[in-house]
Amino acid sequence: MSRFWSPIVHSLTPYVAGEQPVISGLVKLNTNESPYGPSPLALEAISQATADTLRLYPDPTARDLRAAIAESFGLDANEVFVGNGSDEVLAHTFQGLLNHDGPLLFPDITYSFYPTYCRLYGIAFQQIPVDGEMRVRLDDYRRPCGAIILPNPNAPTGIGLPLAEVESLLRDRPDQVVVIDEAYVDFGGESAVPLVRHYPNLLVIQTLSKSRGLAGLRVGFAVGQRPLIEALERVKDSFNSYPLDRLALAGALAAWKDREWFERHRELIVASRQRLAAALRELGFEVLPSSANFLFARHPGKVGAVLAGELRSRKILVRRFSAARIEDFLRISIGTDEECDRLLAALGEILQ
Ligand SMILES: Cc1ncc(COP(=O)(O)O)c(C=O)c1O
Repeated sequence: MSRFWSPIVHSLTPYVAGEQPVISGLVKLNTNESPYGPSPLALEAISQATADTLRLYPDPTARDLRAAIAESFGLDANEVFVGNGSDEVLAHTFQGLLNHDGPLLFPDITYSFYPTYCRLYGIAFQQIPVDGEMRVRLDDYRRPCGAIILPNPNAPTGIGLPLAEVESLLRDRPDQVVVIDEAYVDFGGESAVPLVRHYPNLLVIQTLSKSRGLAGLRVGFAVGQRPLIEALERVKDSFNSYPLDRLALAGALAAWKDREWFERHRELIVASRQRLAAALRELGFEVLPSSANFLFARHPGKVGAVLAGELRSRKILVRRFSAARIEDFLRISIGTDEECDRLLAALGEILQ
């Protein structure tokens, strides 16, 4: 607290990011990063961009990257917006598209940055409880509201929504913006991007942090029809004209074009997820059905905080949330098979 703070600062509840450890040798399964990568072509492009040209500002319109993303979705470059991680794209979306007369709706168990943005931008919100199986029930979103945001697959549960259900919500809510946050869609979700053509109220947000192994580069994007994208551009150009630096633009473009790397590594992660889920169930865990690069699991015989603490003392990091209903769950990012085996060995020991 300080008398120098602007009034709004007193009412903020900042997001708490997962631990980025300073000591080495930890098995890091706590922030849903990729255990692989990134594409060697991305590294090559970044090193090429590390040149005398760094004295120049980057392209404020990120033209080449937006064109490449648009092309792969059959869209126009001006239907794509890029930002410094999808967190920044989300922030601009909350400010530019989700502040209306009615409350913004999102699940009670979801990405915990959403309520943080609402407080930052003064957006009224209502959290809709997920059901007993931790599923988002879209019927509960058919109520008066200002806008809707849903991650698909949801985080931290990993549970995906069928595209037909998303489309029926879009059809029912033509006067509200519906944002689908697809940070994890490449690991088995059904993307709403093909619906962008048909629904002027739909914005889809994705990231290169997870399935492209580029969490450290900070690149995310949104796709939607021109009026929605224009709102994001207006917010961005009132905030920071150059959210992506020259290295990020070069690396993201090369990573995006390396389809082969992308397909191979997402398949590896999905296979490891299936293997890890089966092994956890054998250890007695309840594991929610995941379409993401993480699992959400709890053990009936162990309190979540104790389990997470015992793993940490064995140099294995997983994420745990203290919110009601999920305090005993661990969110476990999918590592390499070797990392997953270390986790399973440690859990076997702890549960003995
Ligand atoms: C649901 C969801 N959306 C968005 C993000 C932000 O990702 P980034 O800012 O790295 O693109 C995350 C990060 O973990 C997430 O879980």
